[in-house]
Amino acid sequence: MSRDDAIRLAYLAAAVLFILGLKYLSAPRTARRGNVFAAVGMLLAIVATLVDARVVSFGLIAAGIGVGTVIGAFSAQRVKMTAIPQMVALFNGVGGGAAALVAASEYHVLAGDGVTSLDGKIAVSVMFSAVVGSVSFAGSLVAFGKLQELLPGRPITWPAQKLVNAAAVVAILTLAVVSATSVDQALFFPMLGLALLIGVAAVLPIGGADMPVVISLLNSFTGLAAAATGFVLGNDALIIAGTLVGASGTLLTQMMSRAMNRSLANVLFGAFGGGPAAGASAKAGTNGDRPVRDVSATDVAVLLGYARRVVFVPGYGLAVAQAQHGVRELAELLEKRGVDVKYAIHPVAGRMPGHMNVLLAEADVPYDQLWEMEQINPEFVQTDAVVVIGANDVVNPAARDDPSSPLYGMPILEVDRAEHVVVLKRSMATGFAGIDNDLFYDPKTMMLFGDAKGSVIKLVQAVGAL
Ligand code: TAP
Repeated sequence: MSRDDAIRLAYLAAAVLFILGLKYLSAPRTARRGNVFAAVGMLLAIVATLVDARVVSFGLIAAGIGVGTVIGAFSAQRVKMTAIPQMVALFNGVGGGAAALVAASEYHVLAGDGVTSLDGKIAVSVMFSAVVGSVSFAGSLVAFGKLQELLPGRPITWPAQKLVNAAAVVAILTLAVVSATSVDQALFFPMLGLALLIGVAAVLPIGGADMPVVISLLNSFTGLAAAATGFVLGNDALIIAGTLVGASGTLLTQMMSRAMNRSLANVLFGAFGGGPAAGASAKAGTNGDRPVRDVSATDVAVLLGYARRVVFVPGYGLAVAQAQHGVRELAELLEKRGVDVKYAIHPVAGRMPGHMNVLLAEADVPYDQLWEMEQINPEFVQTDAVVVIGANDVVNPAARDDPSSPLYGMPILEVDRAEHVVVLKRSMATGFAGIDNDLFYDPKTMMLFGDAKGSVIKLVQAVGAL
């Protein structure tokens, strides 16, 4: 077998491992195996690329791997679970930027070789990965800035925005066609600059609350840009891996939009959501004239300890407080007392897809206790007590009942159908969408104020003492 055949075979094996990895990643029980499969596939693809005869400097590659490994290992250790969306945005942006740089360097080399016009396949691949990679790079950096609160989370808009953006897109397309038909770096690089500006201009008007959807969309852009780079470099593994990322990013974007009952167009152009914790000023216990029921851990322990069925609803606050281990302990105590315990998982609870599943899996909560929204909603009427832990938007009844609410239409966990609702949070502050929640003022709702981890520990002690 020739070296080229061996490389192709290795790329094919890597592609199979990527596909199996994605398949296993789709269920929590097999997700770890999926990660290992995909990582082995990537290692195989890298090794196969390194034995390629066209590699000119192993020293530079080793230096790149060294720097990347240090940054990757450091961030994986240091970044908090709640900051993963920002990290994904940053890594995704770097991927898009890399695709654009490869295209730019290929163009530079061709120009240096005296090529006057690019042939069809190369022209489309170079221009596509240069433009889409740059948009993804710049857009991802803005998304990172918004989530990290380096930039304002609110939508930033300006006059004639759509018109200016449309004009810039036309200019990019014109420059792409012209710089492909008559190779000229004086046109190619301004085109890259405009693509970077479009990336910034497209993401600035989108509210912080929609950033996870935007990141998923930009992720699919990066995948497609990488696939186009695969055509430029003649690298099959890159074409396949890029296409898989592009397809899965597109599907995930659709699923997230659907879970919020919003069209992608509304997410991208609707200027929705004011960013994190817009109403954080409200005090515990009251909000204006509306009273709320402020209870103690002992009261809640009695309610839970003598209930028949309890459903836990985890949300973003559970992740912030890292209360998952305490919740599992509390659930076990209740089960020992004969209480039927379940967890209700909303598809966009937290800040990234599968956020709650990952947290609960980390605390060894049995998978069969996790119920999806559609399965659990009809069960709430027969539930004695729901314990909402750091969730807010995903249990807001306005999404179901109030057509004037910006959340209207988003499917929710209908916890207000249960006999009692206990809410664990620190204050009356709003959730990510910045919208007040009538559930907290419902006469059947009890508010247990405090950090979720502290409150859960108090509940464990109080239930243990019953
Ligand atoms: P949120 O609506 O964001 O509410 C989280 C609540 O947790 C806040 O009201 C906060 O109230 C409380 N909290 C924060 N830290 C806490 C702590 N240490 N202890 C106790 N409570 C704490 O969360 P959610 O219900 O999970 O909804 C997710 C939101 O993100 C939705 O709007 C969703 O559309 C959006 N989003 C999610 C995704 C994905 S994929 N998950 C994608 C796009 C958008 P206090 O400050 O009063 O404690």
